[in-house]
Amino acid sequence: MIKAFILAGGKGARLRPLVLHVPKPIVPLANIPFLFFQIDHIKRAGITEIILSLSYQPRKITDIFGDGMKYGVTMRYTHEDLPRGTAGALKAAENLIDDTTVVLNGDILTDIDLRDVLAFHKERKAEATIVTARVMNPAGYGLVEAAPDGRVIRFTEKPPEDEVTGDTINAGIYILERSVLDRIPAEGTQSFERDIFPAMAQEGARIYTCLTQGYWQDIGSPQKYLEASFGIISGRMKMPGYPQKACPPNNWKKPEVSIDAFSILDGKCVIKAGVAIENSVLGEGCRIEEGALIKDSVIWSGTRIMANARIERSIIGRLCHIGEGARLRPGTVLGDKSTVSDFSIV
Ligand code: GDD
Ligand code: MG
Repeated sequence: MIKAFILAGGKGARLRPLVLHVPKPIVPLANIPFLFFQIDHIKRAGITEIILSLSYQPRKITDIFGDGMKYGVTMRYTHEDLPRGTAGALKAAENLIDDTTVVLNGDILTDIDLRDVLAFHKERKAEATIVTARVMNPAGYGLVEAAPDGRVIRFTEKPPEDEVTGDTINAGIYILERSVLDRIPAEGTQSFERDIFPAMAQEGARIYTCLTQGYWQDIGSPQKYLEASFGIISGRMKMPGYPQKACPPNNWKKPEVSIDAFSILDGKCVIKAGVAIENSVLGEGCRIEEGALIKDSVIWSGTRIMANARIERSIIGRLCHIGEGARLRPGTVLGDKSTVSDFSIV
């Protein structure tokens, strides 16, 4: 039976300070813990056996998903005390793997059809298939160069910017035959991106790329996390069977409040007169006082925004306090329990 193996053991360093109290795999995206989107995506391909590979703050994650029964899947977990790298993590789970496996980075939001990728993999009789995506700015990703038939010629993880040649990057989703496990040394830290794939390409193994057709976005940095949030609330990221809106903004249909159709607000938010909310997500129990403006931003639960504050393209963690008339400039990221004083500019 085909299983999915989700790599969710990284520290998520680029999302600090947001991930100090909540590990990256369960940061709220459109008010839903991120991994739910991945589980839903995997389930849509008919795969119900999921292995989560954890290392950083594992209990917070296992507490949410348990054995997976509630969500129609079987969840199993592996823990590494010290992270062993992406390939080392799979090797450590070797006894749970018995067949073709779908391996996914735990920070990828996508609606691509995994069944198409599996069919492609089978058709090519590939040992490994790497899903690729085209991005505007390929720096900071794994670069994949392939022959016209899709066979990987070269895999280069995060090359220096002046060596970035193409725009086709590793999307962080792989279909692997069990034989790939034999290529991973039993001990030490091993990376698919730095060790296993480059070596397979070099020796001419049957390693192929399959270009994504659909939405693809990773959530690994604040900027990307915001993009992924916009992908969901705009409907660009397709989620059949998922409520398009976690909560429609009808609850706040007061004439003096302006909330656009994209924004998602938890039902327990308090929104006062004169507030304007545009293309944003507000978590449970946020309180927005008179005349505040929130635009292109994500605000986690329990945060209070005082009167006439202006927030643009920012991410605000849980239980923060943004003072009266304060202004958050685009790109601001505030961790849980941050305070911004009245009339200040951040
Ligand atoms: N269990 C475990 N152990 N998981 C790990 C480890 C580990 O030692 N190291 C990383 N992970 C998990 C992370 O939690 C994340 O979900 C995934 O593996 C990828 O690690 P990132 O740290 O997010 O890598 P990246 O974003 O810099 O680059 C990766 O993703 C890009 C696409 O977003 C690479 O796969 C690139 O090649 C790719 O282009
Ligand atoms: Mg990442």
